[in-house]
Parts: sequence; C-alpha cells; structure tokens
Amino acid sequence: MDVRPFWLAGSPATGEDELTVTNPHDGRVVGVASVPDPGQVEQAVAAAHAVRKQAAALPIHVRAEALAHISRRLAERAEETARLISAENGKPIFWARGEVGRAVSTFRFAAEETRRFSGDVQRLDTEPAAAGRLAYVSRQPYGPVLAVTPFNFPLNLVAHKVAPAIAVGAPVIVKPAPATPLSALLLGEIIAETGLPEGMFSVLPVPNERAGALVDDPRLPVVSFTGSGPVGYAIKDRVPRKHVTLELGGNAAAVVLADADLDWAASRVALFSNYQAGQSCIAVQRVIVEEPVAEAFTAKLVAAVEGLVVGDPADDKTQVGPLVSVEAAERVEQWVAEAVAAGATVLTGGTRDGATVAPTVLTGVPRDAKVVSEEVFGPVMVLQPVASVDEAFAVANDSRFGLQAGVFTSSLETAFRAGKELEVGGVIIGDVPSYRADQMPYGGVKESGIGREGLRSAMEDYTYEKVMVLTGLTL
Ligand code: SIN
Repeated sequence: MDVRPFWLAGSPATGEDELTVTNPHDGRVVGVASVPDPGQVEQAVAAAHAVRKQAAALPIHVRAEALAHISRRLAERAEETARLISAENGKPIFWARGEVGRAVSTFRFAAEETRRFSGDVQRLDTEPAAAGRLAYVSRQPYGPVLAVTPFNFPLNLVAHKVAPAIAVGAPVIVKPAPATPLSALLLGEIIAETGLPEGMFSVLPVPNERAGALVDDPRLPVVSFTGSGPVGYAIKDRVPRKHVTLELGGNAAAVVLADADLDWAASRVALFSNYQAGQSCIAVQRVIVEEPVAEAFTAKLVAAVEGLVVGDPADDKTQVGPLVSVEAAERVEQWVAEAVAAGATVLTGGTRDGATVAPTVLTGVPRDAKVVSEEVFGPVMVLQPVASVDEAFAVANDSRFGLQAGVFTSSLETAFRAGKELEVGGVIIGDVPSYRADQMPYGGVKESGIGREGLRSAMEDYTYEKVMVLTGLTL
C-alpha cells in the first residue's frame, strides 16, 4: 500500500516512521501515513513563523480565491473524500457525505467572510478633547495557529480551524487525530494547489505524545483544540499565556415538553442520539421529558430507535455504524453495565458486537451514573421524566457541561425562556441539540470549552483588535 506523505510547509514530505490506519468496522487497512520526525516538525514551525508577516499582508482577494478553490475542489472530490472519511472513521457513508458537504460550505463561508472582514471606523469626536479624531479598528492575526483536531469529524473540524486561519492571514499547522489523519492529508493535497506562500500550512500526523512540543513552541501563539476536556484543560494549563481555544465535550440534553410534536421529537432524538454512533459533542445524551407525555413519547422513541439501520458504514442505507475502535465500544458497554448495576433499566439496546454498540435507551438511571454525568460519546441516551418546565430546565442545567441544548415546545414564551435560562452556548428550539450550521457561533460554557468557532467567530478568535487613531481631521 502506498504511504501517504504529510504536508510540510506546503509540500509533500515523508519521514522515517509510519502510521497505519484501519477501518473500525472490519479492521482492514485503509491507508498508511508517513510520520514527520522532530527535525521535520521544526522545519514546519520555522516556516510558519518565517511566513507570518507575508501571510498577514496577503491581499483579501488572494485569501478569498484560495478558500473558494478549496471549496470547489472538495466538491469535485466529494465522493472520494466521503469514502475516505467513512473508511478511516467508521462513520456511515450517509453521514460522511454530509460532512464533506459541510466542509465545502465551511471553506465557502470563509471565502465570503474574508471579503467582509474590513474592520470598523469609530468617530472619537464624541468628546471635546477628541475633536477631529477618528479610530480605524482593524483585526490583526496573533500569528501561526496550531490546530489540534479530533477523529469524529476528521474533515470538517479541520476545516473549521484551517479556513478561518487562511481567511485572517495566519499560517496554520494541523495535528490531526492519530486514528483519522487521512482526510486531513487529502485536504492538504487540495490546499497545496492554491499557491499560498510556503509555510502557510502544514499537516503533521505526529503521535499525541509528541504534540506537547508543538503546544509549548512560542512561535505558535494560538492553539485551537477540539477534543476531550482533560486534554483540553491540560493544554490550557500548560500554556496559560497563549491564546487557547477549546471546543470540548458535553452531555447534551433534549427537552421534550408536553406541548411538543411527539412524533417529530421522537424521530429526531432517535436519529441524533445515534448519528456517528453518538460520537459528536452535541449528540443527544439526556432526554428530559415532561411526565404527561412521557409514556407516549417513550413508546414512540423506542420504536424509532429500533427502526434505525445498524451495520456496515459503506452501505448507503446504514444509519449507525461502529465507534472509532473496539476499546471505545468496550468503554461504552462498561458504562451501560455500571448504570444497570446502579438500578437502570435498558429499554432497548445495551449490546456490543466488536466496535458496534446497539443504539441504547436507558431509564431509571441515577444522576451520578457516568452515562448521565459524563460524556458518553456513544449511542446511548438516558430518559429523565420531569414534572414541569421548571424542573426540565433545572435538570438540563444540572451538568458541568454546557455546549448545546434542544427544546421541543410549541410555545414561543417557553422557547424564549429556554433561550435565556439554559446554561449552554446554543439553544435549538424545535429540534435536537445536535444541530450546527457551520457559519453560526459554536462553542460551550462551563466545562464545554473556551471561545467560539463558526467562521466569523473563529476569525475574531484568531485576531486582536488594533486601533489606529487619526488626528487633525475635518469630520
Ligand atoms: C463536535 O462534535 O463538536 C462537532 C459537531 C458538529 O460540527 O456537528
């Protein structure tokens, strides 16, 4: 099998070591990635540092055209890319195609947004002492970005870090997840076609144990991380003076109130607790349902979950595939067993076959069980009946996480209450918490992270405001 080169300062390169990537569904080898040695990592960092001023000075039309090119080429190579994502991650091809479509949009939004990112003009003659003065407020990149990306969206969560970096004129070094480096390397192939200056991007599939050196490197002043809380906060603690953005996990709640459309709610909760085998930070984990409709909703939900097609991710009809590894599936199985030992009832699912865990619905789960209080990152949901809207919101907020929540209600008043009272970064009314439009701000409160992604938000995050005051003007 050919060894895929990594991307060093915009050019393909190979190192001594190799990383073999296998399909979680059947264990077959999907590809082999070359791994950079420490000297090559140093070259990539030095190149990013060296090009930073040229990058910041790139004309907007150059950045926009590069981003538009990446978007177009991803669209042209969509099926090949989706097949690769599905093979290395185990994600059903249906969801992989969706991810490619989203990445096409992510780069397109960045191309559009960079054209609008012009700064502000502020008149200062609001006070007599500042007569004839005007401030031009521009945004300047902090400098090269280290992007540490997860396995669960191996293309689009890379896109969410690379696209805004190019848009603001910041070099970017991607360290992809070791389980799924191939999609990021394919993206590197497309970025290399743009003719961006040497050093503007690198994709370095180094093992996690070697990522610390990149995090520490003062020539990379921005670290943007998506992944688990412990790793994210370890990064933040390691480099407290750097600009660190953390997109971390959650135990997202879907609140189903008595005035909801129960058929819609059941179908959406069933699908989005189990999409990507629950390996999304906003997959439905806690289902908080008002008691008057709990019985009827539960019957519809269990029927919808049992109707999901579980199987081979390469099959067009499959909705739920394997987790990323057998170890990940064993951990989920163990958490379900712990909940059952603590008194939970399994309404459906609860079994494992290799890396695949059957879509699982639990009820009667103590609130301190891991399947309630931690992030499951597997196809498991817990039903939590409540007596009122007040209790529903209190239970939803009873979490150390706060990424997104979904509320099914037909009351506008309750919708606005939810928007105000739920302690999360995003409230989705009439749908699951798992909804994300790539242009909107995305990120958490509490232990779900620091900062926001979404193109405009990430562009602001990678830059600081700089004021230039003009004096002696006739305004
Ligand atoms: C995540 O898992 O945080 C990303 C979810 C998404 O982009 O849909």
